[in-house]
Amino acid sequence: MRSIRFQFIAFIAALLVILLLLLNTYPLISSRDAVFEEKRSSLSGQAAVIASALAGLDSPGSDSIAEVLRVLDISGFERILVADARGAVLYDSLGSSGHTDIKDVITALDSKIVFRSDFIDGAFSSSFAMPMSYQGLVTGAVYLLEHDAQRGAIILSVQGRVRAVSLVIGAAALVLAGFFAFIIMQRLRELVQSMRIVAGGDYSYRHVTRGRDEISELGNEFNQLTERLQTTERQRRRFVSDASHELKTPLASIRLLADSIVQNEGMDQGTVREFVTDIGNEARRLQRTTEKLLDLSRLDDGVQVVPEPVDMKQVSLDALVMLRPLAEERKVRVRSSLEDGCVVMATVDDMFHIIFNLVENAVKYNVPEGSVQLTLRNCKDSVQLTVEDTGIGIPEEDRLNIFSRFYRVDKARSRDAGGSGLGLSIVHDAVQAHGGSIAVGQNKPQGSRFIVSFPRPTSEETGI
Ligand SMILES: Nc1ncnc2c1ncn2[C@@H]1O[C@H](COP(=O)(O)OP(=O)(O)O)[C@@H](O)[C@H]1O
Ligand SMILES: [Mg+2]
Repeated sequence: MRSIRFQFIAFIAALLVILLLLLNTYPLISSRDAVFEEKRSSLSGQAAVIASALAGLDSPGSDSIAEVLRVLDISGFERILVADARGAVLYDSLGSSGHTDIKDVITALDSKIVFRSDFIDGAFSSSFAMPMSYQGLVTGAVYLLEHDAQRGAIILSVQGRVRAVSLVIGAAALVLAGFFAFIIMQRLRELVQSMRIVAGGDYSYRHVTRGRDEISELGNEFNQLTERLQTTERQRRRFVSDASHELKTPLASIRLLADSIVQNEGMDQGTVREFVTDIGNEARRLQRTTEKLLDLSRLDDGVQVVPEPVDMKQVSLDALVMLRPLAEERKVRVRSSLEDGCVVMATVDDMFHIIFNLVENAVKYNVPEGSVQLTLRNCKDSVQLTVEDTGIGIPEEDRLNIFSRFYRVDKARSRDAGGSGLGLSIVHDAVQAHGGSIAVGQNKPQGSRFIVSFPRPTSEETGI
């Protein structure tokens, strides 16, 4: 794994190299070009002055040319050479004679101007050659050669300073980048450390965040995730322990009853029958609980079922038929007011679970001669199902909890009624799975009221 610190520092270093290279070459090149330009204009000016001064001389000789140069106050050149139209040296500050072999002079005699300037070994070496003419005829050429070490020295010293400053800046930038990368890495390492602790199973651990930058944001997100994990884990443990407890109780009864039958050989037929009936009842309770657990785990899995238009009136009627024997046994009157055309996008099974469980509870937790009212109606943009009863009601402090798994207000009463404490959890999860909402309140003058609403589907969804 290539560390971010390494990548970051390499990136900064590359950037610095580019920047410093530019800083060390561009100013040098451009100031050198400026000096070349300046040399061209100063040499051409002086050569022109010499050429026009000499043009007036009749047969100029070395001495007369030297005199003209002295009068013109031309000095500071490495070499000044004047040749006639055939290339014979008329004057040379270096003292040569005969025909010149300087190429630039020969080119100048051909009516051309030649300028050269080079920056070599820290000095500017520049030459300029131009023709002299009189009345349109080339009469000779002037050649100037200059060596300027002073300018070169200035440029070199500026370059040296830029290089020194660049090195200092580069080193400082690298140190700062390294330090910055170290701090970032340190914080990332702390975050990874926290992740390892949580991954090891300590869900109560929280990462300590500092500041409000992206890394802190990452830390906060991680803490929230851990929080959710902790909650889920807590619920899971509770669920497992509650479920084992629920299954253990009927199993223990079954074992006890079976043991009694086996150990009491002389047990009379009637008692055996009674015990076996009890065993059957407990087994049925186990079955109901496991079926409900399966329902819940199916809802938990969130397996995407394809919703279809469900006619709530029809489902309500089916549930009421199934509950009629229970209502008769409890002497509870069940009334209903069901509007036509109450359609929701859901599954028939889930809607049946909802209505069945709510009405079953309303009957079970009722009083003799009590009543239950099931109402179904279409509201503006929802379908509303209300189940009201005149039963024992739910204390306000329990209303928040009744949708939790295995929660019962009155354990003994629920168990006697064959309840598992899972019905309302199933109702709640099924309502949520289909985008609905559920509320519980008090019925007047007594009892409970459950209101479930689902969004009314568009005609596009139902295809009607
Ligand atoms: N209509 C109601 N009136 C009074 N109490 C109710 C009603 N509905 C539910 N409860 C209370 O909520 C608890 C949870 O209900 P539920 O999840 O259906 O489990 P159970 O299997 O006990 O019926 C019940 O045990 C009961 O105490
Ligand atoms: Mg129930």
